[in-house]
Amino acid sequence: MPTLLRPATDSDLPTLYQQQLDPEATAMAAFPSRDEEAFYAHTKKIMANELVIFRVIVYDGQVAGSIGSWEMDGKREVGYWIGREFWGKGIATQAVMQLLAIATTRPLFAHVAKHNVGSKRVLEKNGFNVIREDSYTNPAGVLVDEFVLKLG
Ligand SMILES: CC(C)(COP(=O)(O)OP(=O)(O)OC[C@H]1O[C@@H](n2cnc3c(N)ncnc32)[C@H](O)[C@@H]1OP(=O)(O)O)[C@@H](O)C(=O)NCCC(=O)NCCS
Repeated sequence: MPTLLRPATDSDLPTLYQQQLDPEATAMAAFPSRDEEAFYAHTKKIMANELVIFRVIVYDGQVAGSIGSWEMDGKREVGYWIGREFWGKGIATQAVMQLLAIATTRPLFAHVAKHNVGSKRVLEKNGFNVIREDSYTNPAGVLVDEFVLKLG
């Protein structure tokens, strides 16, 4: 299987930092990139948090992105980010499938910007269903319309 998950190490951070800078990706996710200092601080914090599951997605031996699961408002959430050169290869779909075997809490939730058709599809292919619509103000101060999806 060319896609696998493994724990993140400090040497993965430069690649993950570059991937979250991509303007096309940030527009898709409706989530702004972090500057270098904020990215390293945030990512090291979640890597050290035993309550957060954070994995690097490896595809054919390369760091293709990251995926994680964390608790928000008492609910277990899932999120992921794939580097642009790896899009369209089924990597996110495979990564979510593999995460679901590690993040065994149910129900699991995901929030997806309404225009993020690809991410919604990834989740639905893994058994998530839209349960409601919502909106929130992202860290850039932009109001984002989103779908909330649930598994289990
Ligand atoms: C959205 C994202 C995760 C998709 O990752 P990916 O590895 O390219 O997705 P997959 O290859 O597994 O595709 C899964 C399905 O979604 C579809 N899809 C993927 N990207 C799409 C897009 N931009 N538009 C329409 N459909 C798309 C694929 O065609 C596939 O559907 P199919 O099996 O019916 O053909 C990736 O583009 C990404 O990381 N974007 C930036 C960050 C982001 O949006 N993260 C998620 C926040 S909720």
